[in-house]
Amino acid sequence: MGIGKTSGEYELIVNGSKFSISDSWLGESLLYVLRERLGLYGSKNACEQGECGSCSVMMDDVLVCSCLVLAANAKGREIRTIESVADGDELSDVQKAFIDTGAIQCGFCTPGLLVTIHDFLDSNPEPDQSEIKEAISGNLCRCTGYGRIVEAVQLVSIRRSKRDS
Ligand code: FES
Ligand code: FES
Repeated sequence: MGIGKTSGEYELIVNGSKFSISDSWLGESLLYVLRERLGLYGSKNACEQGECGSCSVMMDDVLVCSCLVLAANAKGREIRTIESVADGDELSDVQKAFIDTGAIQCGFCTPGLLVTIHDFLDSNPEPDQSEIKEAISGNLCRCTGYGRIVEAVQLVSIRRSKRDS
């Protein structure tokens, strides 16, 4: 076995399915494995330094930058990526709100923002504007100026509260 290789195969649980990873290197990030080994290209690769949030995924219900997680250390953890957000062909309410408010331009930041916002709204269903800005502060967007993204989060919150009332 060469320097840096893992001691063997390991298994990742991604979006409810098990995947065997073999012949991997210890330094491979979860982001790398998701994209390059599993073909899940929704999580984006930008800074690879935990600065932009474009690679955000959930690991055991905790939001993480997948570029900062070693894939081998994610063994046995429940990973959920942007690919799990929609229900088949049915977009999630956050995805719909992004479209309705025009919160997407180039779309590069969008997957990370969607994962972040779903997680945020689960814990804070009726956030105010400053809480929304704080929640998305780790997700860099170079296009929209954030106004429409904040608007999208507010729209989801309103729609959910109407649906549940
Ligand atoms: S690519 Fe992971 S935070 Fe930027
Ligand atoms: S829409 Fe282009 S970076 Fe956010």
